Amino acid sequence: MGKKSGTIAVFGATGQQGGAVVDALLDHKARVRALVRDPQSDRAQALTARGIELAAARTDDPASLAAALAAVEGFYFMTPEANSLEEVEAEIRIGTALVDAAAEAGVPHVVFNSVFGADRERGVPHHDSKHAIEEYLRKSGLRASMVRATAFMENFASVLAPCLEHGEIVLRMPLPEDAALKMISIRDIGRVAAALLLDIAEAPGGAVELVGDELTGPQIASAFGARAGLPARYEALPLSVLPTDLDRVMFREFANAAEHPGDLAVVRSIEPAALDLVEWIRAIGWTAPTNVAGS
Ligand SMILES: NC(=O)c1ccc[n+]([C@@H]2O[C@H](COP(=O)([O-])OP(=O)(O)OC[C@H]3O[C@@H](n4cnc5c(N)ncnc54)[C@H](OP(=O)(O)O)[C@@H]3O)[C@@H](O)[C@H]2O)c1
Repeated sequence: MGKKSGTIAVFGATGQQGGAVVDALLDHKARVRALVRDPQSDRAQALTARGIELAAARTDDPASLAAALAAVEGFYFMTPEANSLEEVEAEIRIGTALVDAAAEAGVPHVVFNSVFGADRERGVPHHDSKHAIEEYLRKSGLRASMVRATAFMENFASVLAPCLEHGEIVLRMPLPEDAALKMISIRDIGRVAAALLLDIAEAPGGAVELVGDELTGPQIASAFGARAGLPARYEALPLSVLPTDLDRVMFREFANAAEHPGDLAVVRSIEPAALDLVEWIRAIGWTAPTNVAGS
């Protein structure tokens, strides 16, 4: 399988996942064109400083999208986060506009960064949106590969960060104790997507579920506790702690999905250095929080 040498277009390059795709493409010395809403933004300018070409493109302006995709060898896109049903509709509009533009420009290979379980509808609105975009992309006749991200490990450094209480690491999530959460580092999302874009690897059956580890709440808590050299405990919270209906149905689905183990070997066959949670904790230099009650 030959490695590509032409330009790869990236939508979402100023964001987390698209940013990781850019990092990985640059590691392979690929030529990258970033589709951005505002070429003057600090994050867009930071891309030019790394030798990346910018193309101004708006998802509500089909001509700007098709022009931005002219003469590229591959195209990566993700869709922005949706926190309401209105935003879910907007997400689908953005995804289908990007597919239409790729078809118009005759892009040879499109990689869509969706979500685990997007092979079918599951009743989670901001996941079913990605299923709808996958279907639309499939029907476009374009050569397409899906990378289906599971929960970002980075959530454990932000919204799901464990805390320190009375000398103990405590992790709380709205997930039953015995349910295993599938997860992946954002770095590895980028590495797998880049390998597909550059034809270094192929997605078996046209899709890869991006899973680098799969652990229950108590196992995740233990991993952080071991790193801190402290005892650890997990507390399962009710779904009612979540701020939106969308999040509540998503976490209910996480618990259901726990019955279907992911295939970690597929990701490792494409990215042998894919991180498990313990490696990710070490890689980010995680240390126990210090400023909490009782410690
Ligand atoms: N959090 C998780 O654990 C998790 C797991 C799996 C999947 N996901 C999915 O991942 C996606 C979010 O990915 P991310 O975290 O990489 O995104 P992000 O960091 O928020 O980046 C969003 C990117 O989209 C660009 N963009 C273009 N048009 C936009 C618009 N109309 N509205 C908002 N952004 C626009 C932004 O560019 P500019 O702002 O520079 O224009 C930016 O580059 C969501 O679809 C979410 O469902 C999340």
